[in-house]
Amino acid sequence: MTLQLSKLAGLIGDSPTLKINAQARALKAAGEPLIHLGGGEPTYPAPQAAVQAIEKKAASRKIKYTPSSGTPELKKAVLSYTFAHYGRQYEVADVIISAGAKQALYNFLLAAVDPGDEVVFPAPYWVSYPEMVRMAGGVPVAVRPADGVMVTAQETKAAVTPKTKAIIINSPCNPSGQIFPEDFIRQIVQFAEKENIFLVMDDIYHQLVFDGAQVPNPCAYAQKGENLVIINGVSKLYGLTGLRIGWAVCANKDLIKAMGKMQAQSTSCNGDVSEAAAAAALTGSQDCVQDMCSVLQANRDALLAELAAIPHIKVLKPQGTFYSFADFSYYNTDSEALAQYLLDKALVAVVPGKPFGLDGHLRISFCADRDSVVEGVRRIRWALDKTAPNEIKIGDKLVKRD
Ligand SMILES: Cc1ncc(COP(=O)(O)O)c(C=O)c1O
Repeated sequence: MTLQLSKLAGLIGDSPTLKINAQARALKAAGEPLIHLGGGEPTYPAPQAAVQAIEKKAASRKIKYTPSSGTPELKKAVLSYTFAHYGRQYEVADVIISAGAKQALYNFLLAAVDPGDEVVFPAPYWVSYPEMVRMAGGVPVAVRPADGVMVTAQETKAAVTPKTKAIIINSPCNPSGQIFPEDFIRQIVQFAEKENIFLVMDDIYHQLVFDGAQVPNPCAYAQKGENLVIINGVSKLYGLTGLRIGWAVCANKDLIKAMGKMQAQSTSCNGDVSEAAAAAALTGSQDCVQDMCSVLQANRDALLAELAAIPHIKVLKPQGTFYSFADFSYYNTDSEALAQYLLDKALVAVVPGKPFGLDGHLRISFCADRDSVVEGVRRIRWALDKTAPNEIKIGDKLVKRD
């Protein structure tokens, strides 16, 4: 008799972004001149306020369990943040702090989804949505854009059936960098509330926007809003990915309480040091957010200028996040094979579009330093475009394409 793993273990795929990261790390460790444009974390240093809070906590020598759903200080900071950005005054019982936005989302799915319930989200989507929905026993329903670019409100509403439990919207979107327009948000908020479907706004990138763009505010269109769950965290906002702090806010106290039970019985509570640091980041100077947006916007512009030199690709100008999602199907409709080719041939790590729901695309991040972004895209052009010069320098080697 062999030891059997669960059916679920066989059902859930590896995270493709983590897989690329692991390959990239191994190449880098082997001393290869790798350029990593597959990442999902800003290189920006931690805000001073967060660092000071960590030092203070360490000096206290008191690093203990915290209240399961978050410390009062951090919940208060989240409520102030939510009021400042959404104009809605939520209460302490409307908030749960989790180990990243990811755990907040997973807690939601465990608390809301029954086996067979459907969860609808537009494609391209964050790679984790389908797997997390499956882990919760639900059925992921991806809505594909008829124009190949951006799902409409009509298409999203048409995907809803009597089995739909929730809609997830991520704006600006990982991987496309697109912000869903005001009319889309208005229609989906009103529709979901009328139909009694949970609407999860994964707002993890909502402040990382460019050219003065504003992300439409879902609270502006919600009445009681008991179905509206706003998810956010400090990972992308402050580049504090390593703290593992995120949260969910919802005017439905039963939901938040149920999410709290899932958390209490799985991870007990969040890291004490992390909660203190996150509260300090939220209440400290916010200049770092603006600084990070300026750096990312300049990186985006550099990336787009380089991509423009590659013939036959299509890309929408990212309005936020630090990702672009370009259609490379002219070169290869199999994005996984293409990403592997670019890694092997040009030592550039990018993420294939397939696990984001649109094959033929590549997600190219621009959160690395600008020189890497520029050189990485030049290498991609060299590897794919026969009209580009045949020779290129990779590290200290001159290499030929053909
Ligand atoms: C769309 C989206 N939601 C949620 C998360 C999770 O963020 P966190 O680090 O807070 O768990 C990510 C991280 O990449 C993301 O891209």
